[in-house]
Amino acid sequence: MTDATTADGAKGPPRRDFLKLVTGAMAAVGTGAVVWTFIDSMNPDKATIAAGAPIDINLAHVAEGQQIVVLWRGKPMLVVKRTPAAVASLKDQKIVKLLSDPDSKVDQQPPYAQNWHRSLKPEIAVLIGVCTHLGCLPGYFPKPSATTPVPDWPSGYFCPCHGSKYDLAGRVWKGVPAPYNLPVPPYHFLSDTMIRIGENPPGQNWSMSNIVQM
Ligand code: FES
Repeated sequence: MTDATTADGAKGPPRRDFLKLVTGAMAAVGTGAVVWTFIDSMNPDKATIAAGAPIDINLAHVAEGQQIVVLWRGKPMLVVKRTPAAVASLKDQKIVKLLSDPDSKVDQQPPYAQNWHRSLKPEIAVLIGVCTHLGCLPGYFPKPSATTPVPDWPSGYFCPCHGSKYDLAGRVWKGVPAPYNLPVPPYHFLSDTMIRIGENPPGQNWSMSNIVQM
C-alpha cells in the first residue's frame, strides 16, 4: 500500500516542503485500520520542524473526500477535502444532537475555527488527530454505514482504542470516553490549494497553548 510520490504536486518548488506526508488515510472498510501511504521527506531539517516551524501542504491533488495526514511537531495533522455530503452532515441535526460540544465552546480550536465547520473553509478540514481520551489516532470513516466501524454509523471519526466517536469536524459525541473535540492547529491558506499549518492567518495571534487538551 506504499506509494511514494512527491509532497508538492504543484508547479515549481514549494517554499517549504514537509517532513512526512501520509496520504490515503481513508479508514479501511471492514477492519477499521487506517491506510497510511508515506510520501518522501523533503523538509529542510528535522530540527527545524521539531522546533515548530510551519509546514506547507499542497492540496491540488487531494481528491474530494480524501484525507491526508501530515506529521507536524510529532503529531498527525488530518487534512480533508470534504465532499458536499460531508459538509452537509455538519449541520445534520440527527448528528448534531449526538455531540457533546456542537458549538465548540471549549477552547480546542483557534477563534477562526470556532464555527459550525470548525475550519476556515467548510470544504477543508484541518484537525489534530489525537483522541482527547488517551491520545490514539482516530480512524476516518467519512461515509454512513450500517455496520462499520459500528452499527448505524452516520460518518465521522472512530477511535479504536476505547470507542470514542467524533463527527467530520472532530466534534466529540456525548457518552464516549473522550471529553473534548479534536484540537485544531493554527493554519491559514496561502492560496486556493496551499495551506500552511503552524501559522495563524495574518492579523491573528492565537497560541496552541490555549488548547484545553491535546
Ligand atoms: S484513546 Fe481514543 S477512546 Fe481512548
